[in-house]
Amino acid sequence: MSHTIVNTGPKKAQRSQLALPANRFDFFEKAARSPADAIFLDLEDSVAIEDKHKARDNAVKALNEIDWSDKLMLVRINGLDTQYMYQDLIDIVKHCPRLDRVLIPKVGVAADVYALDMLVTQIEKSIKRTNRLGFECLIETALGMSNVEQIVASSQRVEALSFGLADYAASLGTRTSTIGANHPDYGILAQEGKHNFIEQDMWHYAQMRILNACKSHGLCAIDGPFGDFNDKKGYRCAAKRVAALGFDGKWAIHPSQIELANEVFKPSNEEIEKAQAIIQAMQKAQAKGLGAASLDGELIDIASIKMAESILSKALVA
Ligand code: COA
Ligand code: MG
Repeated sequence: MSHTIVNTGPKKAQRSQLALPANRFDFFEKAARSPADAIFLDLEDSVAIEDKHKARDNAVKALNEIDWSDKLMLVRINGLDTQYMYQDLIDIVKHCPRLDRVLIPKVGVAADVYALDMLVTQIEKSIKRTNRLGFECLIETALGMSNVEQIVASSQRVEALSFGLADYAASLGTRTSTIGANHPDYGILAQEGKHNFIEQDMWHYAQMRILNACKSHGLCAIDGPFGDFNDKKGYRCAAKRVAALGFDGKWAIHPSQIELANEVFKPSNEEIEKAQAIIQAMQKAQAKGLGAASLDGELIDIASIKMAESILSKALVA
């Protein structure tokens, strides 16, 4: 309904989401001590087939034995099209009270979420789990993108979406082999300079569609991996672009990307000061019975209050 009020601000900071292959026990302590807001223990694509069972056992052990402080903890289960998924879900829901969310890969249709919700609800009931598990759905196939509006509405458990750039590129047939990067051929020739090539952002449509779907249901929108972990400038640029749109965070596939994400997704001091100035100026305007005013030569009105509050809410959780 158009009058439904959707709280679009994140409830907990999720600026950086570290990917942690669950068979790499040697990474765990470092990850736990890192400044990552969120961590997902991966049972899916960073784990070789022969390690699937070991990775699952590791994830259960790690969630119970390691101090993850107040991080948002997720496990990425295997896909619904594999023979591993059901046992992944049963083990982690049954034995990991510390788990916050299940990260579901390759969600294609709303019924995928329904199937998992039904199973999780039964397990939660049987073990009397008091803190309800959330879901984060990975949109990383053409099918998932086509159904993203139904997926965000599929269950009360869905708290966030992540954009899986690598699988999505493969699903579309995009001619790139660098995870999360732009293809240098994707651009236009500028009219004015005739042969002046300008590179364009090839992920804009997909990211904007995910963001819009998330915010229509008050969910967090998280951008996915950037594979070239030595390219800090490239990571920062990709992160800043989606942060400007409204995304709440981005994956880190290496510890060196965590602080970059934390910095980019926290509004800057200038943004915070401007937001505060807008609210103060609007309070003065409203005390005089005005709905619009000018601040430093710019129009501000009641919508400006909402824009400012949205920026301040991101600063508050970060
Ligand atoms: N989480 C926690 N710690 C990590 C880490 C991660 N994802 N990746 C690397 N580290 C640690 C290493 O153990 C090393 O620690 P040390 O300095 O105490 O010895 C340090 O960070 C530097 O690691 P480095 O040598 O630069 O990387 P690597 O060659 O060991 O590993 C990757 C590189 C890409 C294989 C590794 O970062 C990785 O597995 N990333 C996650 C992949 C993933 O989850 N993919 C699925 C989602 S896209
Ligand atoms: Mg994937």
